[in-house]
Amino acid sequence: MLTDRISASILSADFTCLADQIHLAEASGIDWVHIDVMDGTFVPNISMGPFIVETCRRITPLPLDVHLMIEHPERHIEAFARAGANNLSIHIENNPHIHRTLQSIRSFGCKAGVVLNPGTSIHSIEAILTDVDFILVMTVNPGFSGQKFIPQVAEKIRSIRSLLDLLGLTETEIEVDGGITSETLPLVKSHGANVFVAATAIFKHPLGIRAGVSALQACFSV
Ligand code: DX5
Ligand code: ZN
Repeated sequence: MLTDRISASILSADFTCLADQIHLAEASGIDWVHIDVMDGTFVPNISMGPFIVETCRRITPLPLDVHLMIEHPERHIEAFARAGANNLSIHIENNPHIHRTLQSIRSFGCKAGVVLNPGTSIHSIEAILTDVDFILVMTVNPGFSGQKFIPQVAEKIRSIRSLLDLLGLTETEIEVDGGITSETLPLVKSHGANVFVAATAIFKHPLGIRAGVSALQACFSV
């Protein structure tokens, strides 16, 4: 039985007090810290690099869940691993040699994840399912926090979970990212996801970070 987890995306955090925000999220019971790396080419936005991962490593002992939305991620695996990343996920869409890059991630002792955009079919990852520790299913088009959840992706989550079960890969986690709130979490959970990334619902919750995390955790029991 896979554990339900919350991975808090610092993309919506207040960077003037990043340490305080992460400490509060940690005290509220988040499981992982999600760091969105964007290069302005694979996705339209530019965000953070290994320097921020290294900064987060000094702030928290929680696993750092690093989502690479960049061209040529294979050139940067070592830098992110040395900066303290625990999980490194790479997109299937721009990685012709994904098997090699997944092996490289594991060779540095990190967990390897593959990411699918909303428009990408599960068939694209069938050949590498035994080479990943988790599958990250995008429920928005990557690039920005605060976007609306795309409900059609829910069926894809169910198909991936069925395929993993069929192959006996019951320990492989399914993470979902984009528009996750207390309204959308129950749907993706019921379709087989167990790791829930949230930026806006945690760091921009009107009642604060603690309330945001609690609202998401409350969905675990339903
Ligand atoms: C989007 C990023 C997400 C983003 C989620 O490209 O990968 O991790 O921070 O933000 P919310 O939770 O606001 O949709
Ligand atoms: Zn992300």
